[in-house]
Amino acid sequence: MNKKLISAMLCATMAAGMLAGCGSSSGSSSASSVASATADTAASTEAAADTASTEAAGTTADSSQMTIGISMPTKSLERWNRDGSYLKEQFESKGYNVELTYSDNKSAQQNNDIEGLIADNVDLLVVAAIDGEALSQVLASAKEAGIPVISYDRLIMNTDAISYYISFDNYTVGKLQGQFVADQLDLANAGDKTYNIEFTAGDPADNNATYFFNGAYDTLKPYLDAGTLVVPSGQTEFDQVATAQWDTSTAMKRFQNILGSYYSDGTQLDVALCSNDSTALGVTQAIESDYAGSNQVIITGQDGDEANLANIVDGKQTMTVYKAVANEAVATLDLAVALLNGETPDASLIDKSGWDFDCTYDTSSYDNGTGIIPSYLLVPTVVTKDNMDAELVDTGYYTKDADGYLHPVE
Ligand code: GAL
Repeated sequence: MNKKLISAMLCATMAAGMLAGCGSSSGSSSASSVASATADTAASTEAAADTASTEAAGTTADSSQMTIGISMPTKSLERWNRDGSYLKEQFESKGYNVELTYSDNKSAQQNNDIEGLIADNVDLLVVAAIDGEALSQVLASAKEAGIPVISYDRLIMNTDAISYYISFDNYTVGKLQGQFVADQLDLANAGDKTYNIEFTAGDPADNNATYFFNGAYDTLKPYLDAGTLVVPSGQTEFDQVATAQWDTSTAMKRFQNILGSYYSDGTQLDVALCSNDSTALGVTQAIESDYAGSNQVIITGQDGDEANLANIVDGKQTMTVYKAVANEAVATLDLAVALLNGETPDASLIDKSGWDFDCTYDTSSYDNGTGIIPSYLLVPTVVTKDNMDAELVDTGYYTKDADGYLHPVE
């Protein structure tokens, strides 16, 4: 564990005006948010008359009396391990107690875990859903208990219990993957040349998955329509290319079938557009074991998982879309502190927090079935072999070993 390195890095890159907020133990700027929020609350007689606000302001004064419940989906998908540890580190650095649960990608277990957190009287919940449609009931209990809920990374559907959504711009993730393929193959100037592509998408239970797929598909659609890109399997619908639970071996088996059915006659595969790294890993394994061709297939991914970064170094995967989950944790902390202070955060949270990363406040894109959920969306980055050191190592997120492989700093 080298959490200090990340904190030091975040502090070091923080805008000068925010240096005081770094303090000795945290990379977040929320110290100033707490101070100004407390002042705001104290100044407001209306708020002072409101019992709930008074309680919120009182309790936030002593974060050591408060507990944050964090519900992550699974340890088996690498990124959530990083999310969990960054979130825990951020909240603990401000004195909060943290209860962190992982639910083994089992929706029923996540329901139980969240019930447990509510029973433990947590003050706020941060939830990355396994099945976005399956939490309405348990989150209704959270609402009844007056516990604010932040929908973390994945939008939780059909519940009015969540107040905010914090994520990366999911459609843009897919767009970046599609545009990368278009650029690599110079599709705009392809003339009569044609290329073969296959798609692999994510878990239908994850609201993000369609955003990623649509972002990529929409970007490549003009070339598919023009016949420059061809899908020999004919599988172009999300439901045909989805991968339950983002599972590596499920993605591998499907791709082995595709290779066996449509490419065993020597047909060349040029692109495997994969929505994320866990599926890209399976597709890469299928290509290694079952593809007869010898060309370098362009393979996309998302997350910067360790095994995939190694594949990028080795030339087996071409790119990944990196999402700095350390920053997502910083933004979550500042949003949570504002909520615990009884505020109604809006776009001004971004400036007020002085984040050194880009973020937009979006009040139109994410409707969870009960209405638009106000969203804070961070910006994803394309990572290839060429910019890997600059984007991942120099920023302090990963270390590089003597053989040139990257390892996440946790
Ligand atoms: C998505 C997430 C991706 C990827 C995937 C599988 O919801 O946004 O970053 O990790 O889940 O875990």
